[in-house]
Amino acid sequence: MHAVELIQTEQQDGVFTIRINRPEKKNALNIAMYGALADALQRAEEDHSIRVALLCGTDSCFTSGNDIADFVNSPPTGPDSPVLRFLRALMLAAKPIVAAVSGSAVGIGTTLLLHCDLVYAADTAVFQMPFVGLGLCPEAGSTLLLPQLIGHQRAAELLLLGDPFSAPRAEQLGIVTAVVPQADLLPTAWAKALQLSAQPAAAVRLTKSLLKRGNTRELQETCMFEIKCFLERLSSPEAREALQAFFDHRKPDFSKFH
Ligand code: COA
Repeated sequence: MHAVELIQTEQQDGVFTIRINRPEKKNALNIAMYGALADALQRAEEDHSIRVALLCGTDSCFTSGNDIADFVNSPPTGPDSPVLRFLRALMLAAKPIVAAVSGSAVGIGTTLLLHCDLVYAADTAVFQMPFVGLGLCPEAGSTLLLPQLIGHQRAAELLLLGDPFSAPRAEQLGIVTAVVPQADLLPTAWAKALQLSAQPAAAVRLTKSLLKRGNTRELQETCMFEIKCFLERLSSPEAREALQAFFDHRKPDFSKFH
């Protein structure tokens, strides 16, 4: 399947739906998909007939995060790499982004939500930021945004232990706007996106930029620094053991590293 089909887009009533569609790999994001996501967000910014982006996955999965094989075979190289283009487009989006999360939201599947404006989750959704357990470090500006949102200790628990957490817990923490029954997820997210689309667009853009204004520069710096650390971690013995363990379907053994 081509990237263009793995990332499907559709425009209706000012809402630009961007759907991650690689269910056989739990919507893991490969390089081509990051590129298609970046292109879709850029199109949403440039096309005047688009007023809101709506980001969703499939019923069983939002996204299982970065394709683990790509961590090994095609890590991001420079500022124009698809992953970084996607992160920039997400961070700098002037138009509102609504996310609808069903199933697993792992790694960047959770951290990207910190940049969205309205986030709806199915009651069955499960969130996880397993970076440390993979020998890696958090990304997408999450080391700045998460403690700002939920405080150091709760951010530390989610990031250092990397345990999965439920949709109600994500709502309690403020990572999602609201939790709804699975069957109501897309209708709810769609209705909110339509409501946003009917608002005066310039006032919406201004308000979004004012909400984010205090953070913009620090967020970009944090994101770039995290990526540098992340790339260094990818070739560390800890990450090599963790990624190999994923492919071998076994638990990693970190006892020999210190
Ligand atoms: N990258 C590459 N492949 C992935 C993947 C990822 N991030 N997540 C899942 N897959 C693949 C699995 O290898 C499996 O492929 P196979 O059928 O060829 O063996 C397939 O998708 C189905 O995954 P599976 O683990 O069997 O599904 P599950 O329902 O039991 O679990 C997840 C779903 C998302 C909880 C689990 O797949 C998972 O933890 N994935 C890794 C998430 C991760 O660590 N992401 C990186 C974050 S930095």
